[in-house]
Amino acid sequence: MKNLKLIGFLMILASSLMFIQCTSDPIMGPVGFAGADGTNGIDGVDGIDGVDGTASCVACHSNSHRTPINESFDLSGHATGTSFARGSSTSCAQCHGSEGYVDYVTNGAINPEGYTNPSPISCTTCHSSHSTFDFENDGHDYALRSFNPVTLVIDEATVIDFGGTSNMCITCHQPRNSYPVPGSTGDYTITSFRFGPHHGPQATLVEGVMAANISGTVGYPGVGTSTHRTGASCVSCHMGESSDVSEGLHSWSPTSQSCTACHTNGAPSDVMIETGKTFAQGMEELHNLLFEQKYIDASGYVLGGDGVNRAGTSNPLVAPAKVAQAIWNYKTLEEDKSQGVHNPNYAKALLINSIEALK
Ligand code: HEC
Ligand code: HEC
Ligand code: HEC
Ligand code: HEC
Ligand code: HEC
Ligand code: HEC
Repeated sequence: MKNLKLIGFLMILASSLMFIQCTSDPIMGPVGFAGADGTNGIDGVDGIDGVDGTASCVACHSNSHRTPINESFDLSGHATGTSFARGSSTSCAQCHGSEGYVDYVTNGAINPEGYTNPSPISCTTCHSSHSTFDFENDGHDYALRSFNPVTLVIDEATVIDFGGTSNMCITCHQPRNSYPVPGSTGDYTITSFRFGPHHGPQATLVEGVMAANISGTVGYPGVGTSTHRTGASCVSCHMGESSDVSEGLHSWSPTSQSCTACHTNGAPSDVMIETGKTFAQGMEELHNLLFEQKYIDASGYVLGGDGVNRAGTSNPLVAPAKVAQAIWNYKTLEEDKSQGVHNPNYAKALLINSIEALK
């Protein structure tokens, strides 16, 4: 750019000198013959190709790359969910509103006053700016706000680290701190019909923690040992490559290709808790046992001590620890919503041992 301007300037200068010559020079004599051409010079050494400064950026920042991401996002529960209106309340804002979440991951705490007009989840809830542009050496950060290991809100002694971008999912998809996980001794008092882990215990199930490890015939797998945890991840199953915007990408709907990487003949359709018994059949059996023994109602809410009305502070359920544990496990497996897929062996142990405890 600068050179072009300079050349232009020189040309103007040169032509103005020509005019001066035309008007002021005396008449010239006859012109002589031109001399012979000189020999060609030696070729210069080829320069090294420069690195294309923006190609790697454009691969991700182009409109054509963004279109399927935007379209899949619009179909996702993150875009269509109705629970984000809860983001005004201080007990809910951390996971149910963009402002609360951003404060939580950036400052470690939400605004104690709450938020008047919480926004639903959008691109900038999860993304902000790159912490480095040296992707080759530092790894890619996808301009995510945070993918650090997460200290659970239900138990500050437990930290989950999936070692990658899936750590971002844990920040929200973990049980709330509403009720502690019931222990295994004595009686347990339940004072709310909503007893159980709040809606998103996916990260804890994948890890194999925070259900009640009620004793029984099936042993519990080690924490963090499930193959779906060690060989797959929230992001690998839920955000896979896809040419169909209704699955993978930012729809967060699992793709079948993410399963066939290991289940080469196609993923099994069900978690089998024992030969011939599916996870869903096991859940029905556990539900029926709790229902018949008047611990829960048909919708799965906890009944109070009277066995008729839902539990509350004036109608608490005081039950042996193993009953509270079985209710907790039933609610955990139900709220996880993966039909046991998130951690098949942990889900099997919890379900079979909980059923045994009530028989
Ligand atoms: C793997 C994908 C990817 C690559 C490669 C990438 N980015 Fe980004 N970048 C993102 C995402 C995702 C965001 C989040 C904001 C958005 O969606 O625009 C972002 C955000 C940004 C922002 C902040 C935008 C804002 O509005 O503040 C800048 C600046 C940026 N990128 C520059 C670059 C540059 C320069 C490069 C190349 C050296 C690059 N990015 C490479 C994915 C990428
Ligand atoms: C800011 C908190 C937050 C983060 C971060 C987050 N989620 Fe969510 N997610 C939610 C909430 C809240 C809902 C429920 C929305 C509704 O139905 O109102 C949800 C819904 C979903 C759903 C759809 C569930 C349904 O019932 O339709 C999937 C799947 C999901 N999230 C997976 C993920 C994965 C995988 C990650 C990590 C990449 C992630 N989420 C990160 C808060 C979050
Ligand atoms: C630690 C994060 C977190 C907190 C705090 C939290 N939620 Fe949620 N909530 C979630 C996630 C994640 C989901 C989506 C779970 C899923 O789809 O499986 C969800 C789902 C919901 C749903 C939809 C339930 C359904 O099954 O469709 C409602 C309603 C809801 N939350 C209300 C609340 C309220 C009210 C509060 C505050 C009292 C609150 N949440 C606090 C993470 C949280
Ligand atoms: C709930 C959190 C969340 C939201 C909301 C979200 N993203 Fe992402 N995004 C992620 C995560 C996690 C990754 C990293 C995926 C991986 O590790 O492969 C990612 C990756 C990306 C990438 C790079 C990967 C690729 O496929 O090229 C782009 C670009 C991107 N997001 C753009 C967007 C845009 C645009 C929006 C809004 C329409 C958006 N994201 C909304 C969590 C989110
Ligand atoms: C092995 C693959 C795999 C892994 C790993 C995985 N998921 Fe899932 N997830 C699934 C499948 C399969 C379902 C059931 C989908 C369905 O029924 O539509 C599911 C269901 C869900 C649901 C309920 C969706 C709905 O529509 O009701 C949420 C939310 C979710 N997963 C979040 C997560 C989070 C967060 C992580 C990481 C902590 C995770 N998943 C890890 C495969 C996986
Ligand atoms: C990293 C390899 C891997 C991936 C990816 C994977 N699985 Fe699995 N899956 C396994 C292994 C190994 C088992 C046996 C249980 C174990 O070791 O945890 C299993 C068990 C299961 C089971 C229980 C089967 C039974 O008989 O009880 C189901 C259902 C299942 N996977 C579904 C899926 C789905 C759906 C996906 C994709 C969304 C998926 N898997 C992705 C390796 C994988």
